[in-house]
Amino acid sequence: MRETRLSPEQLIYPLFVMPGEGVRREIGSLPGCFHLSPDEAAREAREVEALGIGGVILFGLPHAKDPRGSEGYDDQGVVQEATRRIRSECKELLVVTDVCLCEYTSHGHCGLISGHEVQNDETLELLAKMAVSHAKAGAHVVAPSDMMDGRVAAIRDGLDGAGFADLPILSYAAKYASAFYGPFRDAADSAPQFGDRRGYQMDPANVREALKEVWLDVEEGADMVMVKPALPYLDVIRAVKEATDRPVAAYNVSGEYSMVKAAAARGWIDEDRMMREILTSIRRAGADIILTYHAKDFARKA
Ligand code: PBG
Repeated sequence: MRETRLSPEQLIYPLFVMPGEGVRREIGSLPGCFHLSPDEAAREAREVEALGIGGVILFGLPHAKDPRGSEGYDDQGVVQEATRRIRSECKELLVVTDVCLCEYTSHGHCGLISGHEVQNDETLELLAKMAVSHAKAGAHVVAPSDMMDGRVAAIRDGLDGAGFADLPILSYAAKYASAFYGPFRDAADSAPQFGDRRGYQMDPANVREALKEVWLDVEEGADMVMVKPALPYLDVIRAVKEATDRPVAAYNVSGEYSMVKAAAARGWIDEDRMMREILTSIRRAGADIILTYHAKDFARKA
């Protein structure tokens, strides 16, 4: 009689890659998740693959940050290197890369800055360059999370021009300006140095605007669309699912995960049951794919 099924292959596990060799450092705000050098990321990816999880999404912490986020689109960057390693060691695992400048910029914003303003149009070219660089390294899917207007079209053009016409784009289409990203910004060291992201991320009070964002991205060529965060936006996931024929992904973000871990550490909740209930609810709302830090815990007892 059960209406909703969830299996590990529907999950994508985020990995945080940093420079070095043999580095595996637990992230304080994300218990059970690690900062990994490319070799360790490949080892982790093998474990993820063996657990039957569908894929990984890679985030990078560069050697050094600068105003233009240069390491983000460097072919020798950490994400590019980790992608090559993972692809050579894992045959089944889907490798998705996050395309955004915020992890690589000294100011921590997702786009180029002039004065205190994000420069939408000038950023597009760099995002396309980053996507092409990830594709050359072997990414199966690129996932732009910056929320600049027009970036899906710019990335599609860039990929097509570089011989990657078949490479799909998973766009973070409805991405809200959310307090639930707190632990991630700590993990990626990407908190904005001034201002906030409300100029380019969505107002949590809006749902019809989410559909507009989704339509724009689909028109520009998005192959899959994402809603983020997940749990506080189940109604948005449902609305997006009904409004489009594209696969819908939902990102069960860092704050959603850390709350569960923190309460479990105090013995206040049954972690395993709560995790299953949360992931099932996201799927029931309409998500085909869930990006989640719980993926390994879920798969171990699936
Ligand atoms: C930005 C990005 C963020 C996350 C993924 N990509 C953070 C932000 O917008 O501040 C958050 C993921 C999470 O909280 O787990 N490129």
